[in-house]
Order: sequence, then C-alpha cells, then structure tokens
Amino acid sequence: MLAAMLIREATPHDWPGMWAFMEGIVRAGETFSWDRDTTESQAGRMWFPEPPGRTFVAVNAEGTVLGTANSVRNHGGGAAHIASASFMVDPRHSGRGVGRALGEHVLEQARKDGFRAMQFNAVVETNTRAVALWRSLGLDVMTTLPAGFHHPAHGYVGLHIMYRRL
Ligand SMILES: CC(C)(COP(=O)(O)OP(=O)(O)OC[C@H]1O[C@@H](n2cnc3c(N)ncnc32)[C@H](O)[C@@H]1OP(=O)(O)O)[C@@H](O)C(=O)NCCC(=O)NCCS
Repeated sequence: MLAAMLIREATPHDWPGMWAFMEGIVRAGETFSWDRDTTESQAGRMWFPEPPGRTFVAVNAEGTVLGTANSVRNHGGGAAHIASASFMVDPRHSGRGVGRALGEHVLEQARKDGFRAMQFNAVVETNTRAVALWRSLGLDVMTTLPAGFHHPAHGYVGLHIMYRRL
C-alpha cells in the first residue's frame, strides 16, 4: 500500500500522465473492450464523460498519476439509477492498492451521487486480478457472455457482467 495517495477528480492537465500508461493497456487489448487502435483524442473523449459522469485520478505525493477511473450513468430512463465504471492503473504501480482505492472511491461517490447500483459491463474472465478485486468490493458475476471477448493470447474467452447494489 502506498503511504501517500490522493484520489481526486481529474482535470485536462492530468491527461498526458494518464495516457502515458493508458495507451499500453489499450494497445495490449487484453482487458478493455476498446479498439486497440483507439487514438489518443478518441480515448480522451471517452475517458471524460459528460456529467453525471466523473473521471478520477490517483496521484502520489509528487503528483504523479498512478491510476485512473471513470464512472458513468450506465442506463437511462427507468434504469438510470445504475452506474458503471472503468479502471486503469499504471502497471509500474500495480499491486500496491491503487486499484482497490479507486474502486472504493468510485463506489462511494456513486452512492453519494444517488446511484442505487453499480454494473461493470465487460470484465474479461482471464483478468483474474480484476475479477478478484471487484468480488472483494462486493460485486458479483451476474452472467458470463460465452466467448464474449477475443483475447490476443487466449482466443475467445468469457466476458463477465458484474453488479452490486449500493
Ligand atoms: C485491475 C487493476 C485496476 C487492479 O489495480 P491494482 O492497483 O493493480 O490493484 P490492487 O493493488 O489494488 O490489488 C487488487 C487485488 O489484486 C490482486 N493482486 C494484486 N497484485 C497481484 C498480482 N501481482 N497478481 C495477481 N493478483 C494480484 C490482489 O488480490 C489484490 O487484492 P488485495 O488488496 O486483497 O491484496 C489494474 O491491474 C489494471 O489497471 N489492469 C489493466 C486494466 C484493467 O484490467 N482494468 C479493469 C478492467 S475490468
């Protein structure tokens, strides 16, 4: 666990530090259902959603971005009370509690924003670290889309929809 980590709303000034590690995660194509050739400007537009969407960064004492998350309204109308969220942690800083802290923060903020549930739409089943983390934060696998994700190394693998009430 990092001694000094702050989670705050991201600003456009944070973007270069975010994209520096986000690009590798997107290009790898192992964990995100984004096109692997997504450009920086496309990624920036997707990662900063309109309100009530939010974008967060986890920064260390020097202000270095360690990880980032965003949350969005997952549905509209009668299901508008369900949020969704996405997470990327700099692999150089993974395994030190950044993802867990971002997850806890996003769930708490969504609850404060009045959302009644959180749904993760596309958790690749081979992403065992993420699945274990989200389970430990109270999300359950509601269903798994068979062969829902084409992994560059493992081929077609399952894609979980994970959910918890807030
Ligand atoms: C998934 C991800 C967000 C986790 O972030 P992180 O900062 O590495 O996670 P944490 O350090 O908070 O660890 C969370 C859990 O992962 C597990 N974990 C940590 N390091 C691990 C490792 N080297 N190997 C396997 N599991 C590990 C532990 O179970 C840990 O739980 P604990 O808090 O009880 O120890 C991050 O790896 C990431 O950005 N991956 C690429 C993008 C991605 O997969 N996003 C999520 C898509 S659903």
